Amino acid sequence: MAIVFHEKSKEFHLFNQEVSYLIRVMENGQLENLYYGKALKDRDDFSHQHDETMRSLMSVNSPEPSHLSMQYTRQEYPVYGTGDYRSPAFSILQENGSRIVNYTYAGYSISKGKKSLEPLPATYVESDDEAETLEITLHDEVTDTDLTLSYTIYADYPVITRNARFLQKGSAKIVLERALSASVEFLDMDYELMHLSGAWSRERYVKTRKLETGIQGIQNMRGTGSSSEYNPFIALKRPYTTENQGEVYGFSFVYSGNFLAQAEVSTHEMTRILMGIHPEGFSWELKQGESFQTPEVVMVYSDQGLNKMSQVYHRLYRTRLVRGKWRDEARPILLNNWEATYFDFDEEKILTIAKKAKEVGVELFVLDDGWFGARNDDYRGLGDWYVNLEKLPDGISGLSKKVEELGLKFGLWVELEMVNKDSDLYRAHPDWLIGAPDRFESHARHQHVLDFSRKEVVDYIYEMIAKVIRESSISYIKWDMNRYMSEPYSRGAAPSEQGKVMHRYILGVYDLYTRLTTEFPDILFESCASGGARFDPGMLYFAPQTWTSDDTDANERMKIQYGTSMVYPLVSMGSHVSAVPNHQLNRDTSLATRANVAYFGTFGYELDLNLLSDREIEQVKKQIQFMKEYRELIQIEGDFYRLLSPFEGNETAWMVISRDKKNAVAGYYQSLNKVNGSWIRLKLQGLCPDALYEISYDTEYDVPFDSEMAEVYGIDLDADTVHTYQAYGSELMYAGIPISREDLNRKSMDFGSLLFILKQIA
Ligand code: DGJ
Repeated sequence: MAIVFHEKSKEFHLFNQEVSYLIRVMENGQLENLYYGKALKDRDDFSHQHDETMRSLMSVNSPEPSHLSMQYTRQEYPVYGTGDYRSPAFSILQENGSRIVNYTYAGYSISKGKKSLEPLPATYVESDDEAETLEITLHDEVTDTDLTLSYTIYADYPVITRNARFLQKGSAKIVLERALSASVEFLDMDYELMHLSGAWSRERYVKTRKLETGIQGIQNMRGTGSSSEYNPFIALKRPYTTENQGEVYGFSFVYSGNFLAQAEVSTHEMTRILMGIHPEGFSWELKQGESFQTPEVVMVYSDQGLNKMSQVYHRLYRTRLVRGKWRDEARPILLNNWEATYFDFDEEKILTIAKKAKEVGVELFVLDDGWFGARNDDYRGLGDWYVNLEKLPDGISGLSKKVEELGLKFGLWVELEMVNKDSDLYRAHPDWLIGAPDRFESHARHQHVLDFSRKEVVDYIYEMIAKVIRESSISYIKWDMNRYMSEPYSRGAAPSEQGKVMHRYILGVYDLYTRLTTEFPDILFESCASGGARFDPGMLYFAPQTWTSDDTDANERMKIQYGTSMVYPLVSMGSHVSAVPNHQLNRDTSLATRANVAYFGTFGYELDLNLLSDREIEQVKKQIQFMKEYRELIQIEGDFYRLLSPFEGNETAWMVISRDKKNAVAGYYQSLNKVNGSWIRLKLQGLCPDALYEISYDTEYDVPFDSEMAEVYGIDLDADTVHTYQAYGSELMYAGIPISREDLNRKSMDFGSLLFILKQIA
């Protein structure tokens, strides 16, 4: 890996074995985005990659006889008002009402390693040899401000990270109205734009559309979260790119609030990608000596399809975004009481559920919503972070100790950013809500957003919840957030500061996370936002896992987990086996299929195990045993491959394989059953073609085949149902694993699945 500056051609070349990124200082002092893609051999001068010609109606940005036009140039950080009529990366309002600026090249520095962006989350390095960083400073004389564009290239990944920083050195009044994090331009439009979108309980479906002239993209202006609707990620892929071959560029925004991610195609077929904090409602005055730091964009290039892009994001985010004790550890198998009890519980009921969980091998019991204040439904109690002694007479400290005495760790749910109007907190501090004076305050789930842009609010909540944690034995926290912001206005900020409120809110959330993770470094944090409304890289910096979705139906989860895996590692995806009929869809799926889907995540249960039959309990025990044996491979060691997409057909398949290619686990899932169907082959990926593998899979009859039905059907439930055979990697990848429909049906009729375990034996 290297970053070199070619003095004569004034070109910066960032490159490693896989990727190159070229920036050129143009004759007008601005920067050109000369190339981004597969690695190029370095040379002194790439300037012939610059295009320029005279065109009608074209503004020229350099004295005659130049033909340099910003409209037809791939700009590194596009400027407003230059005669380039596409969207700019930034915009600055000055005291005289002008937005015209001229940031020209002032200098650069190249350093080893990567700088922290704290308090913003960002990827990091553990040693300076892992990456190199380029900072290019541009200066605008009239406003006396600096603009620094930062780039880090990792040595071992096709990854370049970007951010921008504005510094007001002078005394002129300037207001940043738009300050995006990155822009990249491509010379053609032969791409598809891919993104992950959805809504509550159907988060992160994979959406792809061909680029067309004009603006296309996604945005989020919901304030409190990156949202279920749009994930802060887009990719540009070639139309021929598949999971396993072809070019794709991924752009992932390390931020949890408002964002804009767009591709703008000009009528000359150039494509401009922009990504950053959404400019709507944003304005940031910079006084002398003040600076504004944009969040990070992580760009991944792959010429080996989407799987390779995802594997790079997974490894980078798992090891160089997530931090702390849990970064490299497989996750405890948990049981969460939400779908088992909702608000209706007391200590006895909780302990009965926990006891059964211990019996089957669960390691962590999580007490969800309803343990505090007057929280017997979702109309009241949020903000009152002290235990409800009617439900839990010995408090959280007493309950957590009792759960620990059973041999389980104890976890607790919180929703710290919110308040119900029916709460002591609201009665004491009615002005702590986000909302505009004299205007109606919209509510959602009967609750309101606390003004985390104010330090005193964050301080207060921190003290309240830290007290509970200090007094109890807590090993895990599920940090929920169940509504988006409306009427964004802070009663604690001056009129001129209102444009800062939504960003400051997110900084407040990060601040509280920082304080809690610093004081309680051993606690495993799981972020959550009505399921997956805040599944983003910003959150992963603080909480190494996220509740993927409130939809726990196995068939729906295949889509949600498949889409989420485009960017996020399996170990970050909260995935539980829940009861049937499923609480979101009323659908029955087999216990085996529910587990076969949940294995590809953190794994746990979200039901009352006391309600299962003996046969089901035996099955649960086996599932937990399996996960304990394979979680290291699935969550930490393995590379994930998507094999068949639930968005393209009735079948889904995926697999995880260890880096040494010796062990693998593959899941095959059918949605609706088929009568008299065709033959099936499951083609695997990533195996060593010449190595011999032993494949085993279990076709045990599943629920609803209980003992009574087995007798009716003449089925021997105790017969050995594990099948084993051997095959070379080449056969498994190119010819595929034969799957029999009878085997799928033994598991269940609709929604059948099979799990294949592979071990290299020679
Ligand atoms: C929404 C979460 O996604 C659920 O898992 C649960 O914790 C509820 N909130 C509790 O109110």
